[in-house]
Amino acid sequence: MLDGLKRLEYRGYDSSGLIVATNKGFEQVKRTGRVVNLEEALDELQYGGNLGISHTRWATHGDVTEANAHPHTSSDGKISLVHNGVIENYVGMKQFLEKKGYTFQSETDSEALSNLIAYHYAKEGRASGKNPFLEAVRKSLRHVEGTYGIAVVCPDFPLELIGARKGSPLIIGIGKDENLIASDVNAITHCTQNVVYLNDNEVVHMTNADFSITTVSSKNVEAVIHKVDWDTSAAELGDYSHFMEKEIFEQPVSLQNGMRGRFSDDSSTAVFGGLNLNSQELRQIDRILFLACGTAWHACLVAEYLIERFARIPVEVEYASEFRYRNAPLDKNTLVIAISQSGETIDTLGALREAKRKGYRTLAINNSVGSTIARESDGGIYQHAGPEIGVASTKAFTSQIMICAMLALYLGRLRDLSYEDGIQIVKALRGVPEQVGQILQQNEAIAAVAKKYAKYEDCLFLGRQLMFPIALEGALKLKEISYIHAEGYPAAEMKHGPIALICENCPSVFLATSGEIFQKSLANVQEVKARKGKVICIATEGCEIPDNLVDDIIRVPECHEIVKPILMSIPIQLFSYHVALERGCDVDKPRNLAKSVTVE
Ligand code: F6R
Repeated sequence: MLDGLKRLEYRGYDSSGLIVATNKGFEQVKRTGRVVNLEEALDELQYGGNLGISHTRWATHGDVTEANAHPHTSSDGKISLVHNGVIENYVGMKQFLEKKGYTFQSETDSEALSNLIAYHYAKEGRASGKNPFLEAVRKSLRHVEGTYGIAVVCPDFPLELIGARKGSPLIIGIGKDENLIASDVNAITHCTQNVVYLNDNEVVHMTNADFSITTVSSKNVEAVIHKVDWDTSAAELGDYSHFMEKEIFEQPVSLQNGMRGRFSDDSSTAVFGGLNLNSQELRQIDRILFLACGTAWHACLVAEYLIERFARIPVEVEYASEFRYRNAPLDKNTLVIAISQSGETIDTLGALREAKRKGYRTLAINNSVGSTIARESDGGIYQHAGPEIGVASTKAFTSQIMICAMLALYLGRLRDLSYEDGIQIVKALRGVPEQVGQILQQNEAIAAVAKKYAKYEDCLFLGRQLMFPIALEGALKLKEISYIHAEGYPAAEMKHGPIALICENCPSVFLATSGEIFQKSLANVQEVKARKGKVICIATEGCEIPDNLVDDIIRVPECHEIVKPILMSIPIQLFSYHVALERGCDVDKPRNLAKSVTVE
C-alpha cells in the first residue's frame, strides 16, 4: 500500500493514512505531511496484514490534521473508508446521524459516509441471507449526492473489500492471489497490468481470490478486463532529481510517440484511428468547441490558432468549469473536443457530459488510456506521452499541441490545404523531436538565466498570436512551482493596463518568433525597456534583435509556424523549473496543488 501511495502522491500530499487487518484486529495510522511520514510511523509499528485501505489526501473539507486524514472510521468502529470526491449533502447526513447517536471526530464530508454505512450496517443484521456489509454500502450510496471513489472495510469481514465510484475514478486490479482497488492505474502497475475500469454507480465486492460488480441498485455487471501496457519504470524517477525535470527531458520521445504511425503513406496528412467520424462527417463540421482546464486549456488556445489557420474551421475555447453551467447555444454541426492529460478532471468530464447530453459529437485528446473521459467520448486521440507524474504539466502540454497540430493538418487536408502545404507540415512535425533535443542542450545556459531572475516576486510573460497561449502557459508554470506572481498577456494588450506593473523589479519574458508580427513584438519590447523593465527574450534564430534591447536571450531553432508553440514551450519550462529550484521550492509537489483535480 505504501508503494501505491507513493506512486499516487502527486494526486494529493497534505496527509496520509491507512488501516490494516492485522492478527490483532484492524489497526489504523495517520500522519500529516508527506507519505514518508506515514512510512516512518509504520517502520516503528511493524504492522502486517493481508487486507487494508490507504489514502493520500488533498484537503477539500477541513484543515490538514491527523483527524481529517483518511481512513475515516465510524464512531461504532464498524466501518472504515477512504474517499475521493465531495459528499455534497453531508451536512444533512451528519445531523441525521448525530440524532441516531453517531459521533464525529473530523471536519470532513467523508466521515459522514462512514457513519451512514455503519448506520445501515447496524440496521441490516444478518437475517436477510445477503451480505450485510455489501448491502449497507449499496443502501448508503443511494442517499449520496455528490461524487465519490471509495474503498471500504469492516472488521467483521476481515477478508473483504468493497469499492464504489460516482464521478471520481476507481479501477480494479486483478493480481495473482490478490486483488486491488485504486483511483489511478499508476498505483498498481507494479502489482498487475490487468485492470477493470469501474463505471459510475457501480460497486465492487472483492476478496484476494475473487471479485464481483453490481450497480448501486443491486444489478449484476459483467466485468471487462483490460491490459495496461505501460512500462512500469516510466512512472519512476530513474537518474533525474525531479519528475518535472525527467518529463521535460522526455519530450523528444513523447513527441515522437504521439506521431508514430499517424502520417499517411504519401506524407501529406495525418491519420487517426479512433475518431469514429468519417471524412464526410468531418467535412460537415462547421465549428469546433474545445473544452479543458489549466494547461490543457492553453493547448486548446493553440489549437484555435492552428485549426483556424490551417483548416479554416471556426474554433471556440471554453473553460470546462464555465461551459458546463452556462447553457451556451451551439450549432448542430459543432464538434466538441475535450483535452485532458489525466482524463479524470471532473470539470472537463462534466462539460463533456453536458455536450453529449445535448447531442453533440464529442472527441477527447487524452493521455491516460482507459480514463473516464476517454471512455465517455464518442472518439478520441491518445497522446501516448507516457505517465506524467510531476504536478506541473510539461510533456503532456507539448504532446497535446502536437496532436492539435496534426488534427489541424488532417482537417485542413480534408478541405482547402494543398498537398504541398501538407508535405511541408509533415516534414516540420517530424523534425520536432530533434529540434526539442537541441533546445534541451541549452539547459545549463537557461539555468544561469533563471538564477538571475529567481529573486523577483513578479514577472510578465508576453507574446502575440500563437505565442499568447505560450505566454499564459509560461506564467502558469512559473507561478505554480515557484510561487512568483506571474501573468501572461498578448504583448500589445500590455499597454492597456499591465504596463503599470513594469519597473526594475518586474521582469518580462518576451516570446518572439520570426514572421509578419515580429517587428510589432519588438516595438512592445521597446515599450518595456523604456520603463526600465528587464527583458528576457525567447526568440527563434531568424529574429534580429538589436543589441542592448534585451537583457538575456534564449534562442530556439527557426521552424515552420505550426511547430513554433512546441519549440517555444521548452525554454519556458526549463526557466520555471530552474527558478523554482533556485528558490528552494518542491518542484514536483507545489503547495496546494494536486495532479488530477477530481473535485469541482
Ligand atoms: C498545470 C496543470 C493543470 C492541468 C489541469 C487539467 O501545470 O497541470 O493546470 O493542466 O488541472 O488537467 P488535465 O489535463 O488532467 O485535465
